[in-house]
Amino acid sequence: MRRRDILTAAAAASTLAGCVPAAGRIVAPPPKRDHQPGVVTPPPGFATLVALDVTGSRPDRPLAALAARIEAATPATVTLGVGASLFDDRFPLSRVRPRALATMPAFPSDVLDPARCHGDLLLQVGAASAEEARVTADDLVRAADGGVRTRWRMDGYRTENTVTAAGLPTTRNLFGFREGAGNPDPRDGALMDRLVWADEGEPAWAAGGTYQVVRLIRFAVPLWNRDPVTRQEEMIGRHRADGAPLAGGPEDARFTYADDPDGRVTPLDAHIRRANPRTADSERHRILRRGYSYGAGSDQGLIFICFQRDIEAGFATVQRRLDGEALERYVLPFGGGYYFVPPSLDGLRSILTTSA
Ligand code: HEM
Repeated sequence: MRRRDILTAAAAASTLAGCVPAAGRIVAPPPKRDHQPGVVTPPPGFATLVALDVTGSRPDRPLAALAARIEAATPATVTLGVGASLFDDRFPLSRVRPRALATMPAFPSDVLDPARCHGDLLLQVGAASAEEARVTADDLVRAADGGVRTRWRMDGYRTENTVTAAGLPTTRNLFGFREGAGNPDPRDGALMDRLVWADEGEPAWAAGGTYQVVRLIRFAVPLWNRDPVTRQEEMIGRHRADGAPLAGGPEDARFTYADDPDGRVTPLDAHIRRANPRTADSERHRILRRGYSYGAGSDQGLIFICFQRDIEAGFATVQRRLDGEALERYVLPFGGGYYFVPPSLDGLRSILTTSA
């Protein structure tokens, strides 16, 4: 069986199933920056993602109902994003489209199923149990009262949802490797301002939001498990048991590849080396990942989620570097999309009322 056959067989199986005084003057305080939860806040153990399309001619009605219900949806953490299609010619919203919001393209090794891609809206519902995430998601969709149609939906979970010694959220993915240590620290506000929150050139309502990329990636777990752990570690660039980099030191070690130009220690096509070559230039391309595993048995994998201030400089640059990596043979990206997460629901309400 070739890789595509294995993965397509799995797909077929799954369809069944304040004011500061300065120099004697009163100056305006810096604008208070809102951010939605679910981006830099620690990821709860479970998440349900629901992509929705607006069905009628008035997005303001279902969105107002949805926003009100989101605000009441404790203790779940709900993050609402908008897709490029919300700003197409169905509604008078094109003038307020986030600067760089585009439709996710297909990358070379993708086999995208249009029914599992894109959407006018994306709800990310995080919760402490799978049931709470699912029930909250159901409730939100119902609140939109027929004004939206579910386009695709995924339930995710984080196995071993803990933190690294330095306090970065980490989880173990279905290939058995720990994920999270390479993330920029979400507690570092200045770093998040540089890498995650979008500001320059955005319409006023969108400043302080972030761009979200979702990729639904099926894993060929049996194929992966046939390889010895040492081979798997070469493909990832970290040790399987504890996440320690092959480059040396503990999981949280700061390291570069400057003393390993030929890839003798960390192979040149290892996932983490391709994803982040750790040079001065690659710093600005870093992304904040928040992945969840999904499924079991013949259809399982990763709901890859990442946030960045600019998708081109972030995800798309990293994804192009990953093109042809050793890991590619074991995975199949089949869905997902690009979304913009506005800083607050009030911002979203403001553009809808103006355009209604
Ligand atoms: C295809 C399935 C994938 C698997 C199994 C996977 C697995 C991993 C693992 C185990 C790590 C090391 C732990 C860590 O640093 O968090 C890692 C790091 C990373 N991955 Fe992935 N990943 C996948 C997809 C992706 C995709 C699609 C992207 C972005 C296009 C990506 C970007 C990164 C980045 C930026 C790092 C951190 C590298 C560093 O700073 O050293 N990964 N991934």
